[in-house]
Amino acid sequence: PFINFLLLISLSSLPLRALSNRLDPSHLPNNFLFGTASSAYQYEGAYLSDGKGLSDWDVLTHRTPEKIKDGSNGDIAVDQYHHYQEDIDLMEAINVNSYRFSISWARVLPKGRFGEINYGGISYYNRLINALLLKGIQPFVTLSHFDLPEEIVYRYGSWLSPESQEDFIYLADLCFKSFGDRVKYWTTFNEPDNLVTYGYRRGEAPPFRCSKPFGNCSEGDSEKEPYVAAHNIILSHAAAVYIYRTKYQAEQGGKIGIVMHCDWYEPISNSMADKKATERARSFTNNWFLDPIIFGEYPPIMQKILGNILPEFSSNDKEKLKSGLDFIGINYYTSYYVKDCIYSKCEPGPWITRTEGLFEQSALKDGVPIGKPTSIDWQYVYPQGIEKIVTYVKNRYNNTPIFITENGYGELDKPNNTEEQYLNDFNRKNYMVGHLDSLLEAIRKGADVRGYFVWSLLDNFEWLQGYTVRFGLYHVDYATLKRTPRLSASWYKEFIAKHKTET
Ligand code: NOJ
Repeated sequence: PFINFLLLISLSSLPLRALSNRLDPSHLPNNFLFGTASSAYQYEGAYLSDGKGLSDWDVLTHRTPEKIKDGSNGDIAVDQYHHYQEDIDLMEAINVNSYRFSISWARVLPKGRFGEINYGGISYYNRLINALLLKGIQPFVTLSHFDLPEEIVYRYGSWLSPESQEDFIYLADLCFKSFGDRVKYWTTFNEPDNLVTYGYRRGEAPPFRCSKPFGNCSEGDSEKEPYVAAHNIILSHAAAVYIYRTKYQAEQGGKIGIVMHCDWYEPISNSMADKKATERARSFTNNWFLDPIIFGEYPPIMQKILGNILPEFSSNDKEKLKSGLDFIGINYYTSYYVKDCIYSKCEPGPWITRTEGLFEQSALKDGVPIGKPTSIDWQYVYPQGIEKIVTYVKNRYNNTPIFITENGYGELDKPNNTEEQYLNDFNRKNYMVGHLDSLLEAIRKGADVRGYFVWSLLDNFEWLQGYTVRFGLYHVDYATLKRTPRLSASWYKEFIAKHKTET
């Protein structure tokens, strides 16, 4: 086994050395943010501590544990609520200067806007923010990363009701008022296209609404619903930014944006039909949200295809949308091929997930994957995709500043792994080398990228996959909650140090 181990080291360092020479951090701006990303439900634990209310994910994991691959939940997760100081020390140990985390809505507003503010929750985030700043680590805060108070679901089906906008404004205002003197980077939503796809089209995540052809859902069956939910989220974003701009930004001096789930789409062939399908794929995912926020209307392709299924923006809405954003957050992990399904026949398959009948998304072309497969089913290693998506976003949205708000490598948990196998995460390290190299290329060519966050500092609760997938720079032993650095943690640490000394 030792010989194998040596062989593995020499093999994996060959392409790496070649790449590392090109990885020149001096092309990054001086104040570039290097961070790690997380979210409240996946990290905090302390699920009813100090006055926290129930979130939709608490209810889902408790009522229907069979929906989670290992039957687990986020009651404890990695218990960052009690371990935040230790975790900040781990961040300091790898030189990061920013930490992306989200606010648990039900922790600060247990009943949404229908109940009292929970000062126990406010005080937790104050402790976290102050401890970060003491170490020179910038808080980068997401207001809503999937979980929301059950009260809002129960009252009116969460984002399906325009009333949800009032809830979000209430949360946003409370956070700007309570933390904005110290938080300089805000994002409104994390991956709203994914939230809507899984929660309102496929019926696989809260609130389990679905539209045709994803039948057999517990409830709901309307083709309009995903678009209505998205509409309310877009208007909630706009209203929150409006409040930030008019009440807080001048005094607090921060920036506000939104985080999108950005797979790269590559046409499966050079045919016009597949190229057009690829544009449709972009319109029905990222551009669906970014176009209205930046240009004031839905992508023309969506308008043409959906007609009156797509909600309309009133003139009042359009006024609000003018608040726009200060930056775009890109979460990039993987890429797919896209094939036309309007002019050519496509068999319904598991990957026709986004907009049935418009295009097919697949990782395979003639049986060959777009990038090296990982042990998790949706991720393929295609580093060029990060340069391509950044360049696409740069060109479409007039060089709006960009943060890579997530990029990371998932590994299926193998319970029989030895400690050495757990910690020597060559694949993750190679993934980061490749992706940072490709990102640097986009920056060299003029993209205004201001920061890069690895998903994730620690192994954590991966939503429907429970604890079966690991993404951490630090390994977590869930029995003891002990955190141990992996090889990728030391690599990231050295990479950041090199940037510091070179700039
Ligand atoms: C994106 C999501 O924002 C995050 O919550 C999730 O854990 C990662 N992708 C990995 O799947």
